[in-house]
Parts: sequence; structure tokens; C-alpha cells
Amino acid sequence: MKRPLILAHRGAQRVAPENTLPAFLAAIAQGADGIELDVQRTADGVLVVAHDENLGRTISGTPSERVARLTWAELQQRDAGGWFGETWRGTPPPSLDDVFDALPDTVFVNIELKRTTWASDGLEKTALHFLQRRNLWHRVIVSSFNPTVLARLRLAAPHLKVGLLYAPDLPLPLRRAWARHLLQPAALHPHLSQVTPEMVARAHRRGQQVNVWTVNDPGEIRRMAMLGVDAIITDVPDVAKAVLEEA
Ligand code: G3P
Ligand code: CA
Repeated sequence: MKRPLILAHRGAQRVAPENTLPAFLAAIAQGADGIELDVQRTADGVLVVAHDENLGRTISGTPSERVARLTWAELQQRDAGGWFGETWRGTPPPSLDDVFDALPDTVFVNIELKRTTWASDGLEKTALHFLQRRNLWHRVIVSSFNPTVLARLRLAAPHLKVGLLYAPDLPLPLRRAWARHLLQPAALHPHLSQVTPEMVARAHRRGQQVNVWTVNDPGEIRRMAMLGVDAIITDVPDVAKAVLEEA
């Protein structure tokens, strides 16, 4: 049985602040095959790694400040580590360039593009330029909960591997329309609760991978591996590694 890839969700977020270089490097040290990270575009067109649209939870600032309205220079003055512990105080949010500069070339990256509206702010175009400039096509998948983001990417770059993220609240007819007809993504990224043997078998028959989130419980990690999923997106890559390497 082929073991699923282990992708560290926002890095090894239990041991270092999520979506920062220390979390990504810790994930690799723990044996992850790759990482998952969240990307937005700053007001001046830089791809920055940040989960929330607003500041205040992990990046210092107030909820009235939006990542997309700040410049890269402004964001560099913010602290993305202090909330997690004094050791990390002063860690800035990284750019996507910073991440690829820091990671070994062998690391696979699941880039989640965060965009809640259907109109584009240029995020997709900026992401495609980035992948082209750094020639990263072979070692990334670009995922999103927003199918219009993925549709724009597919139109502009049909060779790019994209993953359709969905949660249990996405109505089944919509999910099917996007997954099977309108988008035909290379991979489905379902929530753990939506993964069944039939679902995995159907996706594989259509030639689509199944990358499941967020799997932290050892029993669930084992179960997902038995079902034949292609990747496990997890907060605990060290646990996943130990479970998947059991005899
Ligand atoms: O890749 C799956 C996962 O990242 C989904 O949710 O909110 O952690 O970005 P979230
Ligand atoms: Ca994410």
C-alpha cells in the first residue's frame, strides 16, 4: 500500500506559530513530506503567508486592519509569533518567496489561496507569475475553497495542479458540479468527515487525488491510509509519521 503524503497544516503548528518559517522548518524536521500554507496578496502585490483576512489573531494589529489593504513593508513590521510564545516574538509573516527560499527543493507545497469574494483582486495572476518565475509547477498544488479562484487559475494555466477544498456545508450538487464538470480539479480536498471508501474509489476512478484535512487523531490517520487517500493534511506531522511507519 502506498503511504499518503504528510502535509503539515500551516506548518508544525503545535510547536511553532502557524504559517511562519519556524513552523515550516519544524514540520520538515518532524518528517513531513510537505506543508500547507495560506496565501493572500498585499496591497502592493506581494504574496504573503497569512490565514485570516484581518489582523489581530496571529499577526499583531487590530481586526479592522486587512492584510490585503496593507503593503508588504507595513506587514513586515508586524509580529506573527508573539501570540504563540516569547521565543517567537518578532517573527514577521513570511512572503511566499521567503518560504521557498527557506525550504529544501524536495518539499511539496500545498498553497491555499484565500479569497472570500468572487471578484478577483489579482491574486491568481500574481500567484501564476510567482510559480512561473520560480519554476515551481512540479512541486506545488494550489488549493482554494473558492471555486472561482481555481477556475481562473485553470483557464490561465491548464497544466497547473489545483485542489478543490470543501467543507460539509457545501451543497452536494454544487460540489459535484465543480468537481466533476466545471473545474475537474486534479485533486479533491475534503474535510475528514466526508471521506468514505466509495468517495475515494470514485475520485480515483476519475483520476482525481484525495487530500484530506485536518487529520490529527492516530486512529483516523490509520483509517485514511487504509482508504488509500493520497495526502493527509495534519497539525501533527510527527504523529502522522509515526503512525504511517508502524509495521
Ligand atoms: O487545507 C485544508 C485547510 O487548510 C482548511 O482550512 O481554515 O485551515 O485554511 P483552513
Ligand atoms: Ca489552509
